[in-house]
Amino acid sequence: MNYLKLNCEYAKQFVSEKEIAAMAPLAANALEKLHNKTGAGNDFLGWLTLPTDYDKAEFERIKKAAEFIKKSCDILVVIGIGGSYLGARAVIEAVKSVNYNYLAKETPQIFFIGNSISPSMLTELIQICEGKDICVNVISKSGTTTEPAIAFRAFSELLYSKYSKEEAAKRIFCTTDKARGTLKQLADEAGYECFVIPDDVGGRYSVLTAVGLLPIASAGIDIDALMAGAAAAQQSLCSKDINENDCLKYAAVRNCLYNKGKRLECFISYEPSMAMFNEWLKQLFAESEGKDGKGLYPVSCIFSTDLHSVGQYIQESAGPLMFESCIKFENAPGDYIIKELSGNADGLNFLAGKKMSLVNEKARQGTLLAHTEGGVANIIFEAAGLSSENMGYIIYFFEKACAVSGYILGVNPFNQPGVESYKNNMFALLGKPGYENQKERLEKALGLC
Ligand code: PA5
Repeated sequence: MNYLKLNCEYAKQFVSEKEIAAMAPLAANALEKLHNKTGAGNDFLGWLTLPTDYDKAEFERIKKAAEFIKKSCDILVVIGIGGSYLGARAVIEAVKSVNYNYLAKETPQIFFIGNSISPSMLTELIQICEGKDICVNVISKSGTTTEPAIAFRAFSELLYSKYSKEEAAKRIFCTTDKARGTLKQLADEAGYECFVIPDDVGGRYSVLTAVGLLPIASAGIDIDALMAGAAAAQQSLCSKDINENDCLKYAAVRNCLYNKGKRLECFISYEPSMAMFNEWLKQLFAESEGKDGKGLYPVSCIFSTDLHSVGQYIQESAGPLMFESCIKFENAPGDYIIKELSGNADGLNFLAGKKMSLVNEKARQGTLLAHTEGGVANIIFEAAGLSSENMGYIIYFFEKACAVSGYILGVNPFNQPGVESYKNNMFALLGKPGYENQKERLEKALGLC
């Protein structure tokens, strides 16, 4: 089965075969480092074999917990930030719909919270949950992240005020480290069911662990198929020959474009249900590559929507700065046939009888030609469809491509030291014990004292 095929035809005029060939040994070397575990961050490579090596007993427990969630609640509240929520939300919206919460019948509505510090988001969700049966899945690898911790405090209080102590505890599921962190301690004390984020799998590579699998299964998505797709990718993306491994070729081409001065990669989709997947891609690439003053800045667009906002800029100004990477789907979900209108008052009868997916495809083709003519290189991924199996393949493909690309770039794709700076400042400004020394300096800088 052909899950995903790379098409570099529309990048050709921007990167020559010769340049790609020159990058090929670096890509092969990066892949070797990954496979031999000799590169930077090699203690975070658990995701590489996860599709086949995952904990089968825990996988069955995840399915059981999902069944419990499906039959016992109207709303599943998923608490987590960054890699602890993006993957699950991306898969649910891609496979089900961006309107999943309006369409769900046999499965609970799923709301994600703890991914910001917005008080209105939290209080609104508490209101939405009024009178509903709820379950909570709190996800944090470190078990100490402020955003989910605040949301979890609020939602555990809600559950304990709504249900008996035993019932509330049964409705809370924790996905965290196997032994460390405040969340694990709290869960053990209260007797919550726990799922493990393996030590060697970092947040942004964790969607195929319980982090993603429990919310995804709770939405009624086939997680066996998701893992089967990822396993197919694990098996097929191993060749060191750039012409036999699309993952390697993509990593090489994007590095060629970077070396030629491009600084942004714009992930494009013509399906709004892929918007969250693009957000997942943004995190994957930005946190993996954006360090040591290097890296492409990942941005995202949904077309044709964004052609009516940033299309002008892309067409006439973005060429020297960015390239586009578009995942195109062979089979669009839920097609619609445009009807004939007697009198043709809106002038649209030339489209009568045509599928809307065809119009979308023609928009894609037209945009592709316009943007490449405007100087924007295009990388295309041809995907079969938005099934869970396909999404499993696509997830693994981009995880591996990102790791290879990071090694080509010469960075450690598995750490994120820069994320700590804002947290330290925030803690100091909030007066967290242990941060007293920085407080005065920061308040002075802000003109607060
Ligand atoms: O990719 C990462 O490691 C991060 O985005 C984390 O997932 C994010 O910061 C949340 O961390 P935690 O799961 O420890 O709460």
